Amino acid sequence: MSSKLLIPLHVSYIQKLGESKDDLAYHLTSHLRLNAIYWGLTALCVMGHQEALDREEMIEFVMSCWDDEAGGFGAHPEHDAHLLSTLSAIQILIMQDALDRVDVPRVVSFILSLQQPSGVFAGDSFGEFDTRFLYCAVSALSLLGRLDELDKEKTVGYIERCRNFDGGFGNVVGAESHSGQAFVCVAALAILDRLDVVDTDTLCWWLSERQLPNGGLNGRPEKLEDVCYSFWVLSALSILNKVEWIDANKLSSFILSAQDLETGGIADRPGDMVDVFHTIFGVAGLSILGYPGLVDLDPVYCMPAAVIEAKGLRKGWKALERRPADS
Ligand code: FPP
Ligand code: ZN
Repeated sequence: MSSKLLIPLHVSYIQKLGESKDDLAYHLTSHLRLNAIYWGLTALCVMGHQEALDREEMIEFVMSCWDDEAGGFGAHPEHDAHLLSTLSAIQILIMQDALDRVDVPRVVSFILSLQQPSGVFAGDSFGEFDTRFLYCAVSALSLLGRLDELDKEKTVGYIERCRNFDGGFGNVVGAESHSGQAFVCVAALAILDRLDVVDTDTLCWWLSERQLPNGGLNGRPEKLEDVCYSFWVLSALSILNKVEWIDANKLSSFILSAQDLETGGIADRPGDMVDVFHTIFGVAGLSILGYPGLVDLDPVYCMPAAVIEAKGLRKGWKALERRPADS
C-alpha cells in the first residue's frame, strides 16, 4: 500500500491502454472507447500530464467516430451516435482546443431531438432514457454555448420529479436514490442555475452517510464501497459546498490504497483489477479533496477548472485549498 499518489506510474498506465489493440479486452470495451479516451485524458490533465497522449491522433480518432447520418458521435467508428459518446467527444475536443472541428448546429439538433415529452432525454434514437442522458444533454449544450435552445422548465421539472424523500435522486421518476444520480441531477441543476430545487441539508446528510468505516464511499445504503463513488458523491457535495461533511483524510487513504503499485491505475477497491474508469474517478476525488500536486477539477463538468473558467461557464466556484506538496 502506498500513502502517495503514484503519478508517473498512472501516466504510463494510461499511455499503454491504447497500445494492445489485439487483446480481447480492447474489443470487448469498444462500446465505451470514446468515453475511455475522455476518462484517460481528464485523468492526465488532473495529474498535469496532458501531453502524454498524442493530440493529433486523438482528434483524428474522435472525428472518425462521427455518425454523419445522425449528427452525433458514436463510441467507436461505425457505431451509431449516442449522447454519452457525443458528450465525451465534445469534452475531448475542448480539452484539446479543437472544438472548431465540430458541426455545432447538427450536434445541437441531434441532442435536442432526444428530449422526451416528460423532459428526460433518451441516450440514442433506440430508447433507454434516464437522468444520466439528461445530464449529458445539458452539459453538452452548455459546453457548446447553446443552452438557450433547451426547454429548461421541462428539463428541470423532470429532475424535480426524480427527487426522493431522502433528498437524493433516482434515475427515473419513482426510482430509489443513488449517488451517481446525485451527481447528474445536482450538476445539471447547477448548469441550469436551479440549485434551489435541491433539498441541500437532507441530500448532503444522505451523501455523507455513504462513507463507511474504512473511509470509502458507497452508492446506496447496504452496498460496498467503491472508488468511483469518490467522484459521484464528492462532486455533489462540492457543488453544494459541503465537502467537509465527510472525512477527507480517510477517503484519501482509501483511494490511495486501491492503486496498483506495479502496473499503475486505480481499482474499485484494494486488490481488484485496475481500469481507467476507476483511475479517473479516484484521481478526480483526490483533486476535489485538495490532494497536493493535482490540478483543480470542475465538479460540474468533470473537466479541468481552468478550461471551464476560460469558457466563462462557471462563476464563483472555488476548489478546496490545495495542500502543499510536502503535507
Ligand atoms: C453509477 O454508475 C454512476 C452514475 C449512474 C452516473 C453516470 C454519469 C454519466 C454516465 C454522465 C457522464 C459523466 C461524466 C463524468 C461526464 P454504475 O452504473 O456503475 O452504478 P452501480 O455502482 O450501481 O452499478
Ligand atoms: Zn465503481
